[in-house]
Amino acid sequence: MSVPVLTVDGPSGSGKGTLSRILAHHAGWHLLDSGALYRLVALAGRKRGLDQDDIQGHAKLAAAMDVSFGLEAEHVSLEGQDVTDAIRTEEAGQDASRVAAWPPVREALLGRQRAFAEPPGLVADGRDMGTVVFPVAALKIFLTASAEERALRRYNQLKEKGSSASLSALSREITERDARDSSRAVAPLVPARDAEVIDSTGLSIGEVAARVIELGRRRALWR
Ligand code: C5P
Repeated sequence: MSVPVLTVDGPSGSGKGTLSRILAHHAGWHLLDSGALYRLVALAGRKRGLDQDDIQGHAKLAAAMDVSFGLEAEHVSLEGQDVTDAIRTEEAGQDASRVAAWPPVREALLGRQRAFAEPPGLVADGRDMGTVVFPVAALKIFLTASAEERALRRYNQLKEKGSSASLSALSREITERDARDSSRAVAPLVPARDAEVIDSTGLSIGEVAARVIELGRRRALWR
């Protein structure tokens, strides 16, 4: 029997991560944070001292690295070391977006990502979940928000964690990362043709979640 998959794609800071967590919790399904995998590849490369343009070296790490995710993907470890905070910095995000543009790295992560689809179901969060990794997902969401609002959400998130951040620098980084993610040749950030596009500008995460839960109900994914 095939496992139901719900995909949540969109640009950084759109609220995908929080939404995916709420949905996985609501449905009692597994959660795949695919962005964390790209962040881990970049971090593993740094730890090994790989050259920044060593595509094949990073692809090998992507296939072989030993990673584990805690419940609801909150805690992440690499080769037995807790790297939960290390992969969440803006720098780690920029690094991830660089290695994510390399086809051999994406190819190496494909099987790993698909292996997360285990009963009773999976919520998959990323950029190409609905277009490439799970093209026959039962429900595909593409979540957006204005660049200003996304930068502001990131700023507030970082401040909550006690990290210092500059709103203008975050805004610039988000725009740069969007441009790189949307213009790359392989698996660019675009909504799947059959995705439900939700603009969350001005909506609370609770309002967005309620909307998606209703969509899932209509498709008989849950009650
Ligand atoms: O979602 P997150 O910010 O953790 O993703 C980090 C980077 O990983 C993104 O900017 C993007 O370049 C890359 N990524 C990707 N495909 C995915 C998930 C993330 O290319 N499915």
